Amino acid sequence: MTRYLSISDGDNRVDFETAVLAGSAPDGGLYVPERLPSVSLEQLTKWRQLTYSELAFEIISLFIDRACVSGADLERLIDTSVSDFFSPETVVHRPLNSHPEVTIQELFHGPTLSFKDIAMGFVVNLFDYFLQRRGERRTLLVATSGDTGPAAGYAVSGKQSLEAWLFYAAGFVTEEQERQMTTLMTDNVHTLRVLGSENGSDDLDQLILQLVDDHELRQKLQFSSVNSVNWARVMMQTVHYFYAYLQVAKIIGEPINFAVPSGGFGNLCGGALAREMGLPVGHFIVANNRNSCLTELFESGLYREKRVLNCPSSAIDISSPSNFWRYLYFATGCETHKIKAWRAQLAVAGELQFDANTMAQYRRGFLSRSIDDRQTLETMARLYHDEGYLIDPHGAVALAALLDVQPHLIADSPSLCLATAHPSKFPKVVADALQLPVSECPPATAHVSLQQAKLLSQRVYECEYQNILTVVKNTLLKVHADGV
Ligand SMILES: Cc1ncc(COP(=O)(O)O)c(C=O)c1O
Repeated sequence: MTRYLSISDGDNRVDFETAVLAGSAPDGGLYVPERLPSVSLEQLTKWRQLTYSELAFEIISLFIDRACVSGADLERLIDTSVSDFFSPETVVHRPLNSHPEVTIQELFHGPTLSFKDIAMGFVVNLFDYFLQRRGERRTLLVATSGDTGPAAGYAVSGKQSLEAWLFYAAGFVTEEQERQMTTLMTDNVHTLRVLGSENGSDDLDQLILQLVDDHELRQKLQFSSVNSVNWARVMMQTVHYFYAYLQVAKIIGEPINFAVPSGGFGNLCGGALAREMGLPVGHFIVANNRNSCLTELFESGLYREKRVLNCPSSAIDISSPSNFWRYLYFATGCETHKIKAWRAQLAVAGELQFDANTMAQYRRGFLSRSIDDRQTLETMARLYHDEGYLIDPHGAVALAALLDVQPHLIADSPSLCLATAHPSKFPKVVADALQLPVSECPPATAHVSLQQAKLLSQRVYECEYQNILTVVKNTLLKVHADGV
């Protein structure tokens, strides 16, 4: 049976169910499996014709013992998590005419129109499955830069075993994302809008750490997390890399590149672990907007969280790439004491300079770029004018980064560009890019589900960032007491 440990504590090991329900480990570290499974080229060849759900079943079965989740239950959990996607294929691949070596991977066909739906539905179903079996409940605290909140809210809606609190910072999410959260008319999902935060979701991540640290609250509300600190999210996010590879590779074994719009590094961590498992990847391109923490880390080895800047690709306005640590653990030889020492150094000094040897280990097969706002908008406009294809600002950051690093990639190797959100979540950015009023933008600027959300009334708590801890704590306790 595969056991799980914290990346910074080798002594305590738990089973899969415990790791998933806990979210993060008792020492605050991220859970990882003792061993990553391997996938051979023969296995990849056999998986070539599988649908997304069938492939997810094969890959997730490598991580979960049948004694923990039976084959029939796993199949059902996966199938129901994608049953309400807008596309029957779950994930869609579109080759570009203007760049024949590039294929766009559309990850935004889920119910809340971002790549977060891909893993969130499954993880929430898994929580519900475990909790019902135990007769327990949990409260999920969710900080969002715009897309995790809607995905979690939608998935948790109506689930008896779960309550969710979605925290977002005013001014850091679009009106469309906000409405996806505040119009969910269900008793078990609550939304809290925070005014006056300077660093958006990074501030809210800190708030959650403080809430979880509070003994009284923790005892009463039984917290957990479905943010990508949760191992199951990252595990599920390995699948779309395998799926893309099997759809796009001409010959199994040829290397393929992946350009990924990145903030917290959760999506890319899934890809990096897929490569560790055996997926033939040429390069990963870490695509940042002006919040260039990851680019700095990959180019100079300096880990430094900076003030968050507002960019058109607002969901990656993140300066704290928490899942980088999970990848670092594997890239540097799975040594918990090293991660513990680096985390301690970072906590004391506020920044961390990795040595040349460590940097060489984690940089292997990675390129990175920070894309500015003008490049983002120009990339959206150019793609639309060249081939009538509207890409969202996050996909545009990835495409701009990919085109920029192309001379450094293996000649003629195919590349996937991950489009992580539907453009309709960012109509003002589309209008800016195309220099048109929103009403004259192409049909993909509007999505029926978002238009419907505009007609519904909103329900949201609001609070100032100052004194937030006390206010949020009291609100959580009151809502909990009213609901019991
Ligand atoms: C649309 C979109 N693209 C990319 C990302 C970045 O993903 P990650 O934080 O896993 O790097 C996010 C969320 O953070 C997102 O919502």
